[in-house]
Amino acid sequence: MCLIPLLTRREILEILIKGLQRLEYRGYDSAGVGIDGGNSKDWETNAKSIQLIKQRGKVKALDEEIHKQQDIDLDVEFDVHLGIAHTRWATHGVPSPINSHPHRSDKTNEFIVIHNGIVTNYKDLRKFLDSKGYEFESETDTETIAKLVKYMYDNRENDDISFTTLVERVTQQLVGTSCLCVLHLAGGTLSYCRLGGSPMLIGVRSDHKLSTDHIPVLYRSCKFKSLSQMLSLFKCTITTVSCSTAKDKKGCSTLPRAAQDTCLFPVDEKAVEYYFASDASAVIEHTNRVIYLEDDDVAAVVDGRLSIHRIKRTAGDYPARAIQTLQLELQQLMKGNFSSFMQKEIFEQPESVVNTMRGRVNFDNDTVTLGGLKDHIKEIQRCRRLILIACGTSYHAGVATRQVLEELTELPVMVELASDFLDRNTPVFRDDVCFFISQSGETADSLMALRYCKERGALTVGITNTVGSSISRETDCGVHINAGPEIGVASTKAYTSQFVALVMFALLMCDDRKSVQPRRREIIHGLKVLPDLIKEVLSLDNEIRKLAEELFQQKSVLIMGRGYNYATCLEGALKIKEITYMHSEGILAGELKHGPLALVDKVMPVIMIIMRDHTYVKCQNALQQVVARQGRPIVICDEDDYETIKNSSSTIKVPHCVDCLQGILSVIPLQLLSFHLAVLRGYDVDCPRNLAKSVTVE
Ligand code: F6R
Repeated sequence: MCLIPLLTRREILEILIKGLQRLEYRGYDSAGVGIDGGNSKDWETNAKSIQLIKQRGKVKALDEEIHKQQDIDLDVEFDVHLGIAHTRWATHGVPSPINSHPHRSDKTNEFIVIHNGIVTNYKDLRKFLDSKGYEFESETDTETIAKLVKYMYDNRENDDISFTTLVERVTQQLVGTSCLCVLHLAGGTLSYCRLGGSPMLIGVRSDHKLSTDHIPVLYRSCKFKSLSQMLSLFKCTITTVSCSTAKDKKGCSTLPRAAQDTCLFPVDEKAVEYYFASDASAVIEHTNRVIYLEDDDVAAVVDGRLSIHRIKRTAGDYPARAIQTLQLELQQLMKGNFSSFMQKEIFEQPESVVNTMRGRVNFDNDTVTLGGLKDHIKEIQRCRRLILIACGTSYHAGVATRQVLEELTELPVMVELASDFLDRNTPVFRDDVCFFISQSGETADSLMALRYCKERGALTVGITNTVGSSISRETDCGVHINAGPEIGVASTKAYTSQFVALVMFALLMCDDRKSVQPRRREIIHGLKVLPDLIKEVLSLDNEIRKLAEELFQQKSVLIMGRGYNYATCLEGALKIKEITYMHSEGILAGELKHGPLALVDKVMPVIMIIMRDHTYVKCQNALQQVVARQGRPIVICDEDDYETIKNSSSTIKVPHCVDCLQGILSVIPLQLLSFHLAVLRGYDVDCPRNLAKSVTVE
């Protein structure tokens, strides 16, 4: 994960452990580090005795294990140092020290590998390597990569094969979506590649002025006619370029042939620190300057120098990897006074929805501007249908806004779970517009659905929270929801911001239709008052904690509603399931009599959402049906709805808002309820078992 000069081993391990802790929300069933093991000042000697330390459980357990190691001198200082670390979310093989990463090529630890993703052909590779006498230690797909590197290295046709070429050749044998990092300590080299699907970035820290004086340049085998031609590829404003390999700084046509395929850092290597990570949160403490890798990129550090190669090249593929500046503050990654990230994120919602609307909704003249869509809005208005594709909570944001989208766009709107959409080979046409809603922007199913739709010529739109993510890069256009980093595995503020972003889109689509102006104004007013109304709902926290005290020993909770609030039921039930491990089901109240009513009796906890919208009378009927079966419904309703209050066993009264935004206010009590239930049941709210924040595997 990092290459850092002149630090002690203790400092290196601290950096790795801290980085892992920031990444822990992505997976936390086991963790490991690989670091050179000797105690000599001469790093080449140390490199020969690479040390792997791995532990089951959270990163804290790994840290404790490291400090138990007797034979490692933590204060030894190196000129050059390499270390890699990984925190795992198990896909192949149970969480255990042996299955956790890094994996090794052999007992001498010549090559070590960490990996995110799945190697789908690992069984065939393992069979082949078994037949060649390689002894496997773990049940993982990743270990196959480590053994394969060794096999290909031992069977290389000439001794001069570069490490990068070796890794490239290995990757050509792998099928699946992955990113991986291979460390060859004996050679002092580290290689990092993105094969598809899994995010990767390189943090760059230097005392040199990288922002203006140095840029990474990917010279394919093209010759640049001029400096400005080359600069135009970098998509960033740079005034001067220096290039250590170019003799003539005015242009790069004089680059030596060897440099033309690579991205080289023209900086004195001793002054540069590189942090390779799968998420910006792991590097932000050290630098806010990052390079995002793209699919089929191989980055390597050899002798302290960074280069980036392309594995597969296609005609016209002249990518440049610019250094980008992260708009992320360390403080955003801290819990502050809250007991968990989830709690913090629930309470951030008055600000996060404002950030989603900032600079986009003008409350003085009732206009909406979405810069990321401006060049495509006419095309979208002419489309055949809108298809919203997502997973989990992000899918619920699509369900929640479908009705207002249908109303304001007058287009057919399909809402699809990405996995099912792909399983069905759903027909997609050139005049469809496909939305990909994703907090992380990296969810494998959504990303694959995006590529599927692109292949069929549809216009693709990303609704993401992560700038630079795969979905935001690969879609034709989109909207960043700007909710700020979401660390809690259970999504909360991203949901409400996705909701707001989709409503803004619906408003934009009908801004020139006269007949809908009164409705537009009503919704825009709703957006204006939303942050204050969210604050009012959050002030119910104590009341909701008391409700949780009554419910936390139950096994199951049913949540019922319809219309705009059907999505609230699905989302509330998902929150309860994932962090409390109670069974919970979101039920469309219209379906009650077709089956679910059989579950209702005097003990089954039932939460109903009844708002004064066009489904109000039907929801009242459902309430009567539940009460008639001796059910004791807890109802989330409008604060002055005395009719409902009278018929309920208990109520959570929320302020009234325009119907299509009411789901934002009614979901917050369920977010808070799930949080309190999980705390009372003694669970780790931010790290629910078996889950991970960003699901980059199918
Ligand atoms: C639930 C949750 C998940 C995600 C789903 C999609 O609280 O967080 O259901 O919503 O995995 O993730 P993104 O939005 O990153 O594509």
